[in-house]
Formats: sequence, C-alpha cells, structure tokens
Amino acid sequence: MANVAVIGAQWGDEGKGKVVDWLASRADVVVRYQGGHNAGHTLVVGTETYKLALLPSGLVRGKLGVIGNGVVIDPEALLAEIARVRAQGLIVTPETLRIADNAVLILPMHGALDRAREEARGDRKIGTTGRGIGPAYEDKVARRAIRVCDLAEPETLDTKLDELLRHHNTLLASLGSPIFDKQTVLARLLELAPLVLQYAEPVWERLDTLRKEGKRILFEGAQAVMLDVDHGTYPYVTSSNTVAATAASGAGVGPHAVGFVLGIAKAYTTRVGSGPFPSELHDDIGKLLGERGQEFGTNTGRPRRCGWFDACMVRQAVKVGGIQGLVLTKLDILDGLPELRICTGYRINGTVVHHLPAAPGAQAAAEPNYEIMEGWSGSSRGARSWADLPAQAIKYVRRIEELVEAPVTLVSTSPERDDTIMVRDPFED
Ligand code: IMP
Repeated sequence: MANVAVIGAQWGDEGKGKVVDWLASRADVVVRYQGGHNAGHTLVVGTETYKLALLPSGLVRGKLGVIGNGVVIDPEALLAEIARVRAQGLIVTPETLRIADNAVLILPMHGALDRAREEARGDRKIGTTGRGIGPAYEDKVARRAIRVCDLAEPETLDTKLDELLRHHNTLLASLGSPIFDKQTVLARLLELAPLVLQYAEPVWERLDTLRKEGKRILFEGAQAVMLDVDHGTYPYVTSSNTVAATAASGAGVGPHAVGFVLGIAKAYTTRVGSGPFPSELHDDIGKLLGERGQEFGTNTGRPRRCGWFDACMVRQAVKVGGIQGLVLTKLDILDGLPELRICTGYRINGTVVHHLPAAPGAQAAAEPNYEIMEGWSGSSRGARSWADLPAQAIKYVRRIEELVEAPVTLVSTSPERDDTIMVRDPFED
C-alpha cells in the first residue's frame, strides 16, 4: 500500500512523533489533517530534540510537509514554531511546507473564549489546552470562520470580522472577559497575511499530483481516538474527529487514498485533562510510570495521569478508528515490574461490559476488570528485534495483540528513532 495514516489509539501522547518520524524516512510527504497546535509531538534525532505542535513531523527528515484543510491554524503559533525550528537548523520554506488555503484560522478571541469557558466550568472543566481549538472548530461549522484564503482579501476579512466579533464579544462579555477591537485584530491579520500566504495553496491538487506520481503519503494524526468528538469520552474530548477516516476529508483526498491505518498505543495508559479513565492508578505504580515515562505534556508541561493498559478501550479504538496494525510504544517503562495488569472489560453497576459506554454516568462508574500477567526482570530498553526482548515481554505484547484484535506492526523500546522492532513495514502492507 502506498500510503499510511498514523493515529493515536488511547488519549493522545502515545509517542506518535517518533513513529511518524520513523515512517517519514520511508515517505515522500507528511500531511497533518486535523487538530491544531494543541498537539505536541516530540522527536529525538541524535542530540537534538524537536517539539512540534502544528508542523508536520516529516519536516525534520527534509520531507514535504502539508497542513490540510481539516487543521485549525493559529497564524501566530505557526510563525513562532517555524522560527523556533529554524533556529534549531531545520529548513522550512514555501518549497518544504504547504498549507491548505481553505483551512480555518484560530484567532486571539478563540483562545480567550476557550480559557474563559474553562474557568467558568469550575470543577467540570474539560482540561483543554486553552489554545482556542474548540471555538475555532465551532466557527467553522457555524460558517463564520476566517480561513487562510481570506487573508488575501482585506475586504472579506473586514466583513467577516464584523460577524465574528459580534458573536465572540457577546460571549466574552457575558463571561466577564475583555472584548476584542476589530481594527486591532484586522491590522494584525494584514501584517501576518503575506507571511502565511506564501505557504498557501489548494493542497488537494498537489496531493492528487503526488499520488499520480506514485509518491508515498504519510497522514499524521493528532490527539487520539478516545479524544474524538464523536467516538471519544465526550464531552472530555477535543473538537475534531481523530479517527483515520478524517485523514481523507481533512486533506482533500478520497477514502481509498488513506492506505494502511496504524494505531499507536503505549504499553500502559496515560491521559491529560479531565474525564473518565477506568484503569487509572492512584498508587506508587502510577507514580513510577509517570516518573519513568516522563509523563508530562510536550506542549503544556501538565503531568499526565497514568494507569494500566486498557485493552478493552484500545479494542474499541481499533474498531471505530479503522486501525489495521498496532504500534506499541514505551514497553521499556514496564521493565522490572513484578506483575502487570491489563484491563479486559468494565464492571458497571454489577454488569460486565466489553466497551466503554457513551453515557458520562456509565463511563464514570466503570470499574476495570483485570487480567494479571507476570512481569519481566530483564531489560527491553533499546531492543531492535524480538530476540532482544525478555520472553515475558513478548508474551505481554502477544496478549495485547489478541485482546485488541489487531496485529502488532511495530514495537518502540526507547525514544531513539532506531530502537524499534519492525514486525512488518506498513508501507508494504
Ligand atoms: P483541546 O483540544 O485543547 O480542546 O482539549 C480537549 C481535550 O483534549 C483535553 O483533555 C486535552 O488535554 C486533550 N488534548 C488535546 N490535544 C492533546 C494532545 O496532543 N495530547 C493529549 N491530549 C490532548
């Protein structure tokens, strides 16, 4: 298969950056198709660590990076990130980065509204990144969003800002937040316009040409299936669809073009932000996983909640996300634990179920049903073949494969790019 899509199979931060970086060396172009700068992808290349939020990871490998129409783009964040990675020596030019001219922009009032609403929610806050993702997608669906192409038309910007600010200033004022002045926003957008427009084009056309030339496309998902606005733990989700089907609509290609779907899951589970997490650990093991796994948000620095691998949830992600092969990351973090647990279902008010229910009350009530496995005493860190893994670690991987009903395609055993066991090449599948 020529193309591959990579999506998260849990609640994000599964180590997609490393996998995408690894696959990017086999691809010709890397496409982001949903989310925005709420994502955080860490790539370790030699002594250099790149932290990307909005830019497609392929840029690190000198591959063409494309930001599709399904992404919400904060122009300030985009330009700041470009400047930051350029300072680290990466080449980002209009030749190496293309941005969909029909992608929606995140403007300062989106972040302001996101944060003001979170504050107003109090204990019931979602734990958003506060970067305006939700409000920007709301504007897109409500047909009042400002898009990249609008930057080329000052009159369009002027008219659209009237409607946009009428809406946002009313909401902000009702939450007791400062409102925005149209002329200030407009003047800044006109300043940013040429800087952004140099990257803009109808990317669907370029992707179509690349496909005709037989080029390999890697679709880089952000967040993860359990944060999908339809299939995730709603309302504790992000505001885009994160399932692989979105790669098509968010890039402007047909569903058949998406290719092989690779789901990434950690060998345990983490989550940032609020919301249900049945296999969460509140004990020393949870603390240990957090410390060893350096479980802090790439972007926000927030500590991640940690727990046992939830096979029931990942199985659900496999089904709704269209995952055909699984990548298991951070297996080495479990090294030396005498006993491991895998969640295989939930007890909800005395009944055992094998899916995470949609209703928030039932989700909150879900108690994990565990299968217990022996751990391993040897080290799996840096393993590059099955032969390098302790026998019990192989059993753990094989059991996960059975429970989630997807074959394990890759196993990642350290942050280093080459510390990876490839079971099969997804591009060849
Ligand atoms: P938002 O995407 O900023 O609206 O946040 C909604 C939810 O998604 C919150 O729980 C965030 O913590 C979570 N989230 C958003 N982006 C990421 C990510 O890249 N990794 C993990 N969680 C994320």
